[in-house]
Amino acid sequence: MNKTYLHSSTMSDVFLCGTKKDAYIEKHRGTKPGSELILERENEVLQQLNGVVGPRVIKFNEVNKILTMTKIGTHDLSDVLHDLPIDSIPILTYKFFEDLNKIHERGFVHRDIKPGNIMVKVDNRGVYDYAGIVDFGMTLRSNKKQNEPLAIGGTKPYTHPTQSSKEFKETRTNPGQDWFAAARTVSHLLVGGSSPSFEALIKKGDGAEASNLIKLAFNRCFGSRKNDTKPLLDLLLFSVKPESESQSELMPLLHMGTNAFESLQIYSGTYWNTKNKQISFQDSSRHRPKRHDVLLIVDNTESMQSEIEFLKRQFDEIAELVKGRIDLRIDLWSLGDYSDGGKSSITPLGQRMRSDTFQQCVGDMQASVEQNDEAEAYEVALQLAYLAQPIYWNPREATKRTIILVGDSYAHGWLDREYSPWGPVVSKARGKFDKATQQRAPADPKIKKLYDDFTRRHQVYMTKDTEISEREAHSSAFKTVQWRDTKIKEKGGHVYVDGELHKNRPNYRKAIERCVEQKNAIIHTIGIGENKVSSSFLKFVAMFGQGTYTHVGNGELIIALKGIFSSVDAKIFHDLEKETLELNPTTQALNSITTFVIDSMSED
Ligand SMILES: Nc1ncnc2c1ncn2[C@@H]1O[C@H](COP(=O)(O)OP(=O)(O)O)[C@@H](O)[C@H]1O
Ligand SMILES: [Mg+2]
Repeated sequence: MNKTYLHSSTMSDVFLCGTKKDAYIEKHRGTKPGSELILERENEVLQQLNGVVGPRVIKFNEVNKILTMTKIGTHDLSDVLHDLPIDSIPILTYKFFEDLNKIHERGFVHRDIKPGNIMVKVDNRGVYDYAGIVDFGMTLRSNKKQNEPLAIGGTKPYTHPTQSSKEFKETRTNPGQDWFAAARTVSHLLVGGSSPSFEALIKKGDGAEASNLIKLAFNRCFGSRKNDTKPLLDLLLFSVKPESESQSELMPLLHMGTNAFESLQIYSGTYWNTKNKQISFQDSSRHRPKRHDVLLIVDNTESMQSEIEFLKRQFDEIAELVKGRIDLRIDLWSLGDYSDGGKSSITPLGQRMRSDTFQQCVGDMQASVEQNDEAEAYEVALQLAYLAQPIYWNPREATKRTIILVGDSYAHGWLDREYSPWGPVVSKARGKFDKATQQRAPADPKIKKLYDDFTRRHQVYMTKDTEISEREAHSSAFKTVQWRDTKIKEKGGHVYVDGELHKNRPNYRKAIERCVEQKNAIIHTIGIGENKVSSSFLKFVAMFGQGTYTHVGNGELIIALKGIFSSVDAKIFHDLEKETLELNPTTQALNSITTFVIDSMSED
């Protein structure tokens, strides 16, 4: 593994580095003046905590301000707020409070407690363990005046107001501030919904409505132990009352927090059952934005350079489109061929990125991978996309999963025969024609449905003329690469690929099938350029991937991506479509995606 983006803001860029087995985290300063001071502060605090709580420092580069530390968990609670099994809440809260208490015992106040800074472990069973607290950039000694540079700040609605305004510069830090933020964090876990909706809820009727929802969810989660853990409920309910926001309540908050922690000790040493996936304890979860986890695989060879440059320049449009309206997480992989033996052809550039981090990540991407071979490792990418071990792409649970393949080429294996794989598909869809009897055999119902749906959604791309010209292109391309393929066949039908996970060339058809059936994803493809072998391949992938194919011209990649990103929410998609057609009346880049959105609405 190289270095992949996890998070980017004006304060910091966070990267996951190392190998799967031996991963670590690098946090770099952001563009904002003063972000280097925050990183220095984080380094000092973590050195003193010495791994007892939070990540352990591996090294700190004073010159470039890069903090290297151990990796804690795989996801933060803002990522998986709606994937928490009901049984996890008491144990998760106990372990989180235990860590917070340790920070306080060592004389610190964390000062940035919120779901995004609490880490958990996720694998194919779901969220299975608590992992720890991160982000010690705001951390100060207890009972210290908040008048040092960059000590004022925080995140609504979690941070206690005595931290977020300059008027409190002379106020001393107090662990009560953390208990307030911890209580708001747990309250948010209990009621669910987006962070802005949770903030709005607290403001309604002086917190009365929030209190009701917290009580209901608390009773569901704590069940038979709800009397033992009443001090926790007291803390949670107090944290959504306006009184708790005043400075005079910091000491009471500290006492309530400590009591709540003690009452949770009954959960010490226990684990939750990952099988009980009931998330219906979260009353607001129904109103949350639609979730969409995208794996974007971009062929990053030289021929793609100009489209990628265009994408970089226009990316703000995507960020603007989805902001707060779609809960989008993107993994980005860049892809090359593997003619260059020792190197892996897939480079993950970023993981579970929100749109602002994604923008940063695309900005760093360079379409400079040298192209030595006409086919690209699309089949390796599709294989890594579904593999569960080691996990390369780790989408959340209750989410729409989409793989997007962007390119101007085709997979190794696509040209293994002179005739295009479309021939057998068409004949199965229509029924094989027997020349002797002049009769058609029955169609294969599964292929017929796929083919008919796909043809209907892709009329412009599925004409007879296109079919003929793509068939011819296939045959003539076959003649040019035949040498390479037959040579390989002598070795048993597979290419030996150094440095790849599975050293043999994967079967692209199986990979597509498993992405759909095992990973539960839809595959969309976006084609660029005039290569007909490529468009025929990309359509094939989209058809078996049950998604769409779009051919984009200059500057249209952004339109197609916006369409696919927003395809999970019909209303947002239609707003986008309207706006796009006003600005680009002639574009065809949304056609197939529009039919797809209409079709998926009727399936819902
Ligand atoms: N040590 C770590 N282990 C695992 N993930 C981490 C670690 N540090 C940060 N992250 C991930 O990166 C995100 C941003 O890091 P954070 O330190 O919170 O930066 P910021 O100060 O910009 O919020 C976190 O929300 C978390 O998902
Ligand atoms: Mg953070």
